[in-house]
Amino acid sequence: MNITGQKLREKFLTYFQKNNHAIISSASLIPENDPTVLFTTAGMHPLVPYLMGEKHPSGTRLVDVQKCWRTGDIEEVGDTTHHTFFEMLGNWSLGDYDKIQAIDFAWEFLTKELVIEDKYLAVSVFAGNENVGEDKIAYDKWLSLGVKAPRIAKLGVDDNWWGPAGTSGPCGPDTEIFYWVGDKDAVPEDFDPTDKNWVEIWNNVFMEYNKTIDGQFLPLAQKNIDTGMGLERTLAVLNGLADNYLTDLFYPLIQKIEDLSAKKYTEDTKSFRVIADHMRSATFLLGDPKGVSPSNTGQGYVLRRVIRRAIRFAKNLNIQAGFTTILVQVVIDNFKNTYPELEKNKSFIFTELQKEEEKFNQTLQNGLKQFEKLFQANNLNAQTAFELFATYGFPIELTLELAQEKGLKFSEAEYKEAFLKHQELSRTASAGMFKGGLADDSDMSRKYHTATHLLHQALRTVLGDHVEQRGSNINAERMRFDFVHPDKMTPEQISQVEDLVNQQINAKLPMSWQEMTVEEAKNKGAIGLFGHKYGEKVKVYTVGSDANFFSREICGGPHVENTSELGHFKILKEESSSAGIRRIKAILE
Ligand code: ALA
Repeated sequence: MNITGQKLREKFLTYFQKNNHAIISSASLIPENDPTVLFTTAGMHPLVPYLMGEKHPSGTRLVDVQKCWRTGDIEEVGDTTHHTFFEMLGNWSLGDYDKIQAIDFAWEFLTKELVIEDKYLAVSVFAGNENVGEDKIAYDKWLSLGVKAPRIAKLGVDDNWWGPAGTSGPCGPDTEIFYWVGDKDAVPEDFDPTDKNWVEIWNNVFMEYNKTIDGQFLPLAQKNIDTGMGLERTLAVLNGLADNYLTDLFYPLIQKIEDLSAKKYTEDTKSFRVIADHMRSATFLLGDPKGVSPSNTGQGYVLRRVIRRAIRFAKNLNIQAGFTTILVQVVIDNFKNTYPELEKNKSFIFTELQKEEEKFNQTLQNGLKQFEKLFQANNLNAQTAFELFATYGFPIELTLELAQEKGLKFSEAEYKEAFLKHQELSRTASAGMFKGGLADDSDMSRKYHTATHLLHQALRTVLGDHVEQRGSNINAERMRFDFVHPDKMTPEQISQVEDLVNQQINAKLPMSWQEMTVEEAKNKGAIGLFGHKYGEKVKVYTVGSDANFFSREICGGPHVENTSELGHFKILKEESSSAGIRRIKAILE
């Protein structure tokens, strides 16, 4: 079958819409309510409150295409299937239909809508463990659909248990669907899950448990279905391609890299893939409604890493400086219909990339100078070479290459030892960063979340309606808020904003929410971050009365019930975050 990425997205959404699912927009790549993870890693992630029982404004059957980002795969990128950014097609039942119905939907979509012959499909189900029994219902259901017993594998927790996405939350056994990508005339009768020719294309998770922070698995009151089909991989196998980068989600980028490097993709597939994947994923982070800038911590650090890794691989292909914005334009053109935020945030994406490219080139130059100095002073060893990386950000691979050219003795193993020690340290540091997150301090987080709405509106009142939220980060101790504004705020403006927020707190205003369509929300004066789809139902939070409100914003919640719960609001710092974006750090005391 020949099918484009756009067509596959549409087919999926339409099929489930026909089956009474409401289409919802992709959430931001930056999780709203989960400080334990940096990015949205799966379609279910933004839906956690609803999987836990909160009512979703669009109903109990949902379908979407969700932007996802996984940091675990950065080093793996370079083969045919691993990506940092990817899109996940998903359908959900929030306590609505059961696993039998979910399997029926999945089977019908694959065999009728995508017209995949069932002889090329195989499945796996949960074999059971000491906590949860074998999934007999799913097994029997597959049999009843005509899947032969040798094509149904029963596997353990490593294969057929999914979640939670962070450290705690909804999870459960799953059933996975595999497609035979090998020789079509030699498809085996038996399903061997270790045979690489069976490629997993769809996972249906039966979210029936809640993993608590202390590691217990408690049955969820509401039984849910969570499914995930990776767009890139499914598109590749449907088109008979063994390489995701040959699908239309990547190929325009590969062609542009061929132009820029005057090389063929086949000459160095790894470098081409790393550049294509990383420039695509950087574009989505920079262009997200909560856009991230390169930095040395958190999401910004991951972004910096992929941009710099792309630049290094571009050097392998002798691509000239300034290439990042050329490639980003290809990404924007390819994805702007599905993700209009990319076009909207284009100038931010371009400026940030140009800056980062220049900075990194400077880093490389400085690093080279230091390297020469160490060499001249006869002081180049694994430890000092490692410090080049730790202090100057000089890439490890380059150091090793240069050292080799100079005929130096220290081994990669010695160097790696220093590196591993460093990794250990930074892992500990980033784990510490999330201590006291939402999971165990939900009261404080709720208060800060409400303060974010008050601050957003206060900034618009004092500075003007051009102010728009670009990101926020909350933990139990403080809040951070990034917003569009060209100038440094004056001390008067800062105290006006502070006063305005405190007035709303002292006025003891009620905070309430209502469900409505995006259009109704706009008509009622709501502000909101995301490019929601026409007709989509959303939750709108109002501070004050319906007729006379201080703030009204599209948001998932949760919030306090009355502003009086907030205490006293204080701005600690106002500073530049990136070009045209200011950052406020504030506390409630
Ligand atoms: N949440 C499941 C996954 O990510 C569907 O595979």
